[in-house]
Amino acid sequence: MYIDTHCHILKEDYDDIDKVIKEDFEVVDKIIVSGCEKESIEESLELIEKYDNVYATLGYHPEQVDRVTDEDLIELEKLLDSPKVVGLGEIGLDYHYEKDKKDDQIKLFEKQLSIAEKKGIPVLVHSREATEDTIKCLKKYKVHGIIHAFSGSYETGLEYIKMGYLLGIGGVVTFTNSNLGEVVSKLGVEHLVLETDAPYLIPHPFRGRGMKNSSKYIPFIARKISAVTGKTVDEVGEITSENALRVFDLNSK
Ligand code: NI
Repeated sequence: MYIDTHCHILKEDYDDIDKVIKEDFEVVDKIIVSGCEKESIEESLELIEKYDNVYATLGYHPEQVDRVTDEDLIELEKLLDSPKVVGLGEIGLDYHYEKDKKDDQIKLFEKQLSIAEKKGIPVLVHSREATEDTIKCLKKYKVHGIIHAFSGSYETGLEYIKMGYLLGIGGVVTFTNSNLGEVVSKLGVEHLVLETDAPYLIPHPFRGRGMKNSSKYIPFIARKISAVTGKTVDEVGEITSENALRVFDLNSK
């Protein structure tokens, strides 16, 4: 069993979304799409309406910092009540692209963390070159969830795990120039979930061929985790799926 806990399936990226989703479901059991700006929030809501076993997390990405109004956040809070919206995200801090707007990013992040706390809904955290501030912000709120696209050090991973977070592992773990496999081998599979972040980050050996990623490539991530942790591929699928079911409470949705 596989669950893709984070991907973006948008019309601008795929010619035939129905076909993509059909092929994905030959491989994965559930797909969680992430709507992280106005347009993709709309599209994510359409997808969860149309397909069984597709769920959404919604929230404003740090790169949206200049566009998001308080009204948008009020609207977002209402959308979180729909039963197939299972989390808030991706939200967080990105000091790679938006370095000059740190304070505004922190404000937007904390406003959304406070919504998650109020609703008791898990968060999907985007943190790029911002580990210290991310941890500081997360510690201010009683929230739980997933560190999306985790690619940090063993120590950082351990810190997040101690705080109760799961780590989202994607195609990067398969990249030949990445040391994430080594970090994962030390952290173990118990606190991981699988994610593709499609259409981006297609796993090795498809990388660099101009192909779009999608949920059907999840087994390539699972196989790499299996190889570095000594668990079987099936165990990796089961453990990470159980984690996803639990954190998003999918069995009751
Ligand atoms: Ni993403």
